[in-house]
Amino acid sequence: MTTELRGKVGIVTGGTSGIGRDAAVLFAKAGAKVVVAGRRELEGKETIDLVRAAGGDGLFVKTDVSQAAEVHALVRKTVEKYGRLDVAFNNAGIEGNWIPIAEQSEEDWDRTIDINLKGTWLCLKHEIRQMLKQGGGGAIVNMASVAGLVGSPGAATYCASKHGVMGLTKAAALENARSGIRVNVVCPAVIETPMVERIFGEPQFRKYALGLHPIGRFGTPMEVAEAVVWMCSDRASFMTGQSLVLDGGFLSDGCRETPVSMWVPMRASQSGSCVTMWTSTAGASRRKRLMAVM
Ligand SMILES: NC(=O)c1ccc[n+]([C@@H]2O[C@H](COP(=O)([O-])OP(=O)(O)OC[C@H]3O[C@@H](n4cnc5c(N)ncnc54)[C@H](OP(=O)(O)O)[C@@H]3O)[C@@H](O)[C@H]2O)c1
Repeated sequence: MTTELRGKVGIVTGGTSGIGRDAAVLFAKAGAKVVVAGRRELEGKETIDLVRAAGGDGLFVKTDVSQAAEVHALVRKTVEKYGRLDVAFNNAGIEGNWIPIAEQSEEDWDRTIDINLKGTWLCLKHEIRQMLKQGGGGAIVNMASVAGLVGSPGAATYCASKHGVMGLTKAAALENARSGIRVNVVCPAVIETPMVERIFGEPQFRKYALGLHPIGRFGTPMEVAEAVVWMCSDRASFMTGQSLVLDGGFLSDGCRETPVSMWVPMRASQSGSCVTMWTSTAGASRRKRLMAVM
């Protein structure tokens, strides 16, 4: 147990698996009461079992973050149970279909934007309202991605949603700076989660994606959770409106120079998502690259 969040009450959205689940457990280990949100009840209860096994106290609230009434209810139930809201990790998100814009459906655009961008906006809105009402400030961390910082052919909708989260974060930070509510955003590269298993499950996809990380491996959910707990804690008290990149060197690699026109798509469909792999025709010396970033 640590003490970074001792006495605080926190919400973690998308806490039924992956990064959100580890963040919920780490919130609890850091001393916070944690309210876990997501759509899957069984998995939500499993996360609460893990929170309790870590010595913490938590509550699962079934929530679809794209639905205003459900997000409002999430914050209301948090306050009913624990009396206040101090910290939040707006992490819920989906990958959508990774295919070229010309082939993309309006339904996929709407679904991805509704969950990743509108969902984050709804969470911010209701969390900030509560924090302003109770006074005393607060700390919120949104989930973007390296796809919130750079573009990627084949992942336009996901990139657009995550770039939107970057803008939301800055505006929310500015609006609330004088109220003591800090708002920041975390931008991971590829992290080992069920989402990544859906996208990069096949060995050749995984190999491509690994090659994008100079550190030689993907990140772990707990590595993201550690950063989020710090950003939510008073140790990060002068940080607001900022992004923290956790990418194993992904964005520092200036050698990925091949222009889009040199990429030839190779398509593969997987259940729930469609991944496009692109391989360079520019010669053996150039590194092959998966033109989709998380
Ligand atoms: N893994 C990576 O490499 C990576 C890198 C950068 C950023 N990210 C971002 O990190 C976040 C977590 O992803 P992950 O990798 O941990 O994937 P994951 O294991 O698939 O987790 C996604 C979480 O989001 C929740 N979620 C999805 N739609 C929701 C909705 N409408 N309402 C409420 N919850 C919803 C899911 O819960 P339910 O299904 O129960 O609703 C689940 O708990 C996402 O925003 C993702 O874009 C991931």
